[in-house]
Amino acid sequence: MKIYKFETFTSDIEKNIRGGIYKPGHKLPSVRELKKQYQTSITTIQNGYEHLIAMGLVISIPKSGYYVASHISKTLEINPDFKPVVRDAIFERNVELITSSARGKKVAEFNVATPGDLIISQKLLLRTMQQVIRESGVSLLKYYPTNGSEELKSNIIKHAANYQTRINPHELLVTDGALQALHIAFAAVCNKGDIIAIESPCVFSVLEVIRVLGLKVIEIPVDIDGFDLNFLKKACINNKIRAVVITPNFHNPTGILMADEQKKELLSIIQQYGIAVIENDIYGDLNFSGKRPTTLKTFDESGLVITYTSYSKTLAPGIRLGWLSAGKFMPQAEQVKFAMGSTVSPVYQETVNRLLSGESYDRHIRAFRMQLAKNAYFTINLLSKHFPEGTSVLTPSGGYNLWVKMADKVNMDNFYSQCEKIGIKFTPGYTFSFSDVFSRYFRIVFADQYSAQKLQAFELAGQLAAT
Ligand SMILES: Cc1ncc(COP(=O)(O)O)c(C=O)c1O
Repeated sequence: MKIYKFETFTSDIEKNIRGGIYKPGHKLPSVRELKKQYQTSITTIQNGYEHLIAMGLVISIPKSGYYVASHISKTLEINPDFKPVVRDAIFERNVELITSSARGKKVAEFNVATPGDLIISQKLLLRTMQQVIRESGVSLLKYYPTNGSEELKSNIIKHAANYQTRINPHELLVTDGALQALHIAFAAVCNKGDIIAIESPCVFSVLEVIRVLGLKVIEIPVDIDGFDLNFLKKACINNKIRAVVITPNFHNPTGILMADEQKKELLSIIQQYGIAVIENDIYGDLNFSGKRPTTLKTFDESGLVITYTSYSKTLAPGIRLGWLSAGKFMPQAEQVKFAMGSTVSPVYQETVNRLLSGESYDRHIRAFRMQLAKNAYFTINLLSKHFPEGTSVLTPSGGYNLWVKMADKVNMDNFYSQCEKIGIKFTPGYTFSFSDVFSRYFRIVFADQYSAQKLQAFELAGQLAAT
C-alpha cells in the first residue's frame, strides 16, 4: 500500500509524541535537519508538518519552529472495575435507542459508522460498477465460485502482502460483508453455550451476533494499549475459552492500535491454551499516519487465527463484500459459507476486483485516511469547545470512531432523549457491553464532512450535556 512520501518521518515523530518521548511543548527538529536526516525535499518535510498540524499533534510558531501540541496528553481512563466473569450474552440495559435509530428525526447523525457521502468517492464507485456491468454483461448473472472469484482472491492476497499478511489461497473465502464473515467464523469454531473472550467495549453489531448464536462471554477490558493481556491470562486459567474476538487495528470505538509486540504476546497466550482468535480488521486500512499496520495473521504460524474484513468502512456499506482467511478452520468455514448462500454478488466481486487491480483503491484510501485524521482532530476540538468540563476523549490512531466519557454530573438519559428529540444521534456507551459499565460513555463517528447544520447540532448537543 503506497504511503505519502512525508509519512516516513511523520510516523517517527508521531510515535515519539504518542510514546511520551516528545512531551507537550517539545521543540521538534527543523525542516532543514529533517531534510538532511531523511534525504528528502523541503516541500516533503513541510507537507509532513502540515499533516501533523492537521492531526492536532503539532503546532507551528512563526519564526520559531514546530512544537508538540499541548492537548495531546488528553487520554481516557477506560479501565472500569472488571472481573473475569462468565456471563450470558444478554444486555443488562434495554438497547432500544440503538435499534430504533432508523426512526425519528435526523438532523445530525454521529452514530452511523459508514463513510460519509461527502468524503467518499461515490463517483469512482458508481463509475466502476457501470464499467463492470457494461463489460462483463450476462456473466454477472450466473453463480460465481462458492469461495469467490479467483482473480479477486488473488488481488486480495496481493493487497494483504503489502502489510506482511500472508494469506493462503486455499484458506480464503469471499463473503457478503464483515458480519457474515464473523458469523461464519463463530459457526466454524464454536457451539452454542461456548465461552468466548470479547473486548470491552465491543461494537454492538458483534455483540448482536454473539447474542443470536447463544454464546457465553467473558469481557476483557481494553485499556490505553489495547486488549488487556494480563486480564486475558487470568481469564484463561479458570475458564475453557473457545475463542477470542478482537479488533487489534483501530478498535471500535476507541481507535486504539495494538503494537506488534502485543499482537505476538496474544498469539503466545492463545497457542498455550489452544484458543482460536477471530480477528476483525475492518478498520486496518484507515491508519492516520505511517505504514498500514500488520495483523495477528502476520505473526500466526498455528493456523488458529481467523482474520476477516470488508469494504464497508473503506468504500461503501452497500458494496456487500468482505473476506475471511480461515486458517485451520477452513473446512468448517467452507461448509458454513455454503449453507449461507453459494455466491456473493458477481457485480460486487468484479467492482472490488477492478478497484484493487489498478491504483484506484490505494489512491482513494490515501486521501480518505488523511481526511479522517483531520476530522478526528477537528471533532476533538469541537468537544473541548462545546462540551462541559470533565468530558474526556481518547485520541484515536485510525478508523473513524471517538470514544467519549462524560463528567459524572451529566444526566446521560436526559442527554440522549434531548438529542433524540431534536434529531442528533450518538451511540450510547451501554450498547458496547452486555454489562452496564459504559453508561457514562458514548461514541461519535467522524467519517463525514461537517456541514453548517452538523456544526450547529454539535454545539447544541454540548449545551444539552451542560444542562
Ligand atoms: C467492527 C465491525 N464489524 C462489522 C461491521 C459490519 O460490517 P459489514 O457491513 O461489512 O457487514 C461493522 C460496522 O458496523 C463494524 O463496526
